[in-house]
Amino acid sequence: INYANAEFTQSAPSIRQCPPDTGAEVAFAGRSNAGKSSAINALTSNHKLARTSKTPGRTQLINFFQLTETQRLVDLPGYGYAKVPLKMKQEWERNLSEYLRERQCLKGMILLMDTRHPMQEFDTTMLNWAIGAEMPVHILLTKADKLKKGPAQATLLALRKQLKEAEVDDLVTVQLFSSLKKTGIDQLVKQLNLWLAL
Ligand code: GTP
Ligand code: MG
Repeated sequence: INYANAEFTQSAPSIRQCPPDTGAEVAFAGRSNAGKSSAINALTSNHKLARTSKTPGRTQLINFFQLTETQRLVDLPGYGYAKVPLKMKQEWERNLSEYLRERQCLKGMILLMDTRHPMQEFDTTMLNWAIGAEMPVHILLTKADKLKKGPAQATLLALRKQLKEAEVDDLVTVQLFSSLKKTGIDQLVKQLNLWLAL
């Protein structure tokens, strides 16, 4: 798959208005400001593809990016954004868990967390939903450039240990990533290629 061919196709305000459930797609999820849109841009070498912002909550719609006729990437709105009304938040959470359970073409989820504070409350909820739905998850510890090599590596190893102890390391994998320094892209591509293979 040539990720540089990615093209924005559509935005959907809710899971119900997604494109037809055919082919294969991978969704990028994570807290607001975790770096989802930046990661999609780094992956596709297109800094204008997904809108990024210093202000959390920039992506409020589900955005679809076509790779080929049958393969897609999905940029999900960030969760845990304080300024979103509680009702909307609960509605979105219900939507998201339904999407994980019912979307047949969804082959895996890329879950992004800032390396400096991984596994916040809703990250754990998200991970548990995915595990409950037997949906494979690949965690990107983002903004790894903000930490020195030692502490970044320590965070990676601690999380791997935690996943192993919870006996979910067959379903959940994890790597370091930096959109700024373009590190970890090869590893991400390998995972996406496996999931998107038809
Ligand atoms: P929402 O759309 O609000 O959910 O956020 P998002 O997860 O899409 O985050 P986005 O990609 O917009 O990035 C948020 C901020 O983090 C921006 O200011 C980015 O420039 C910055 N950022 C993203 N990735 C990196 C990275 O690898 N390193 C550094 N240093 N900053 C980054
Ligand atoms: Mg975004």
